[in-house]
Amino acid sequence: METAVYKNLTQTRLADIRELLRGGELVAFPTETVYGLGALFSHEAGIQGVYRVKGRPADNPLIVHVSSSAMMQSLIAPSKLQERRLEALAPFFPGPLTVVLPAPPALQGRPGLQGGTIAIRMPSHPIAMSLIAFLQEPLVAPSANLSGRPSPTSAGAVLEDLEGKIPLLLDGGVCTIGLESTVLDLSSSDPQVLRPGSITCEMLSTALGCTVPLVRKPSSLSPGGRYPHYAPKACVVLFTSLDEVRAFDQESTLFLSYREPVLAGFEGFRKKNLYALFRKADKMNKKTVAIYVDGAVLRDDALMNRITKAAQSG
Ligand code: TXA
Ligand code: MG
Repeated sequence: METAVYKNLTQTRLADIRELLRGGELVAFPTETVYGLGALFSHEAGIQGVYRVKGRPADNPLIVHVSSSAMMQSLIAPSKLQERRLEALAPFFPGPLTVVLPAPPALQGRPGLQGGTIAIRMPSHPIAMSLIAFLQEPLVAPSANLSGRPSPTSAGAVLEDLEGKIPLLLDGGVCTIGLESTVLDLSSSDPQVLRPGSITCEMLSTALGCTVPLVRKPSSLSPGGRYPHYAPKACVVLFTSLDEVRAFDQESTLFLSYREPVLAGFEGFRKKNLYALFRKADKMNKKTVAIYVDGAVLRDDALMNRITKAAQSG
């Protein structure tokens, strides 16, 4: 199969995309966090295709993407408590926040969902927004990478993993955030963050008026947490001391430090380009990615989560 790449959306193209999706095909599209691999939430074969194409474990549920509060409401069991919480979180919609809520009885057991809950996100990227608004129905979309690889933050990275495996990719340039959305579990009495992202625990605590902790151990609550993630093929090693990095002179290593090169031969990384640098290390056949972890990185839950997982996956 040839993968077509569209740089802009016209009404005709939107109508073509709707036909593809209604036929159970997959479309990769940009969001502000990372690229997503979309199928209609209403299309069982499409959802099966998502799992097959990514090589995703069947017990890892998908995020359902919406373009409006009304569409979000249509996926949620009526509840005063959740209504109040979602109202308090309204400043983050659309944006890089996924909420996990009890699924209404009619949706329980649907393909892509699991355990009586549904994860919902309203992306703010104009292409994602226009596509879902045109379809007038939700799209499931995991990150558009092969399972276990770093999430794609550019159209080129999607092609590296999925060229020839999907009919269409919408190219929206480089993702502005570059790490996946914060996953906030609202399915029990105490809200908690299952996956840290750029909407921080502090921001959520302030909005919800209660302390929102980060769940640090992978649990049955966040199925994705159990699998290797975010990792290049190269082995990722972390250093908290500059002396140790200096002493680490293994060949074939890509050295990274936060924002600025901390020593000669280093490259500066940020949230936005971390995954691109992981992919670059693999393209350069590097054996190791050595990351110098400074205080700013240590204080950043989202970055620490991704680089520790990458280091554990090697
Ligand atoms: O930024 C993002 O969230 C991107 C873009 C494309 O929206 N999507 C993304 O999807 O990162 P994915 O499938 O790669 O990661 C979704 C994470 C997984 O760890 C999954 O286990 C978790 O969300 N998840 C999905 N549904 C869940 C649920 N009902 N309860 C708990 N965790 C859930
Ligand atoms: Mg993913």
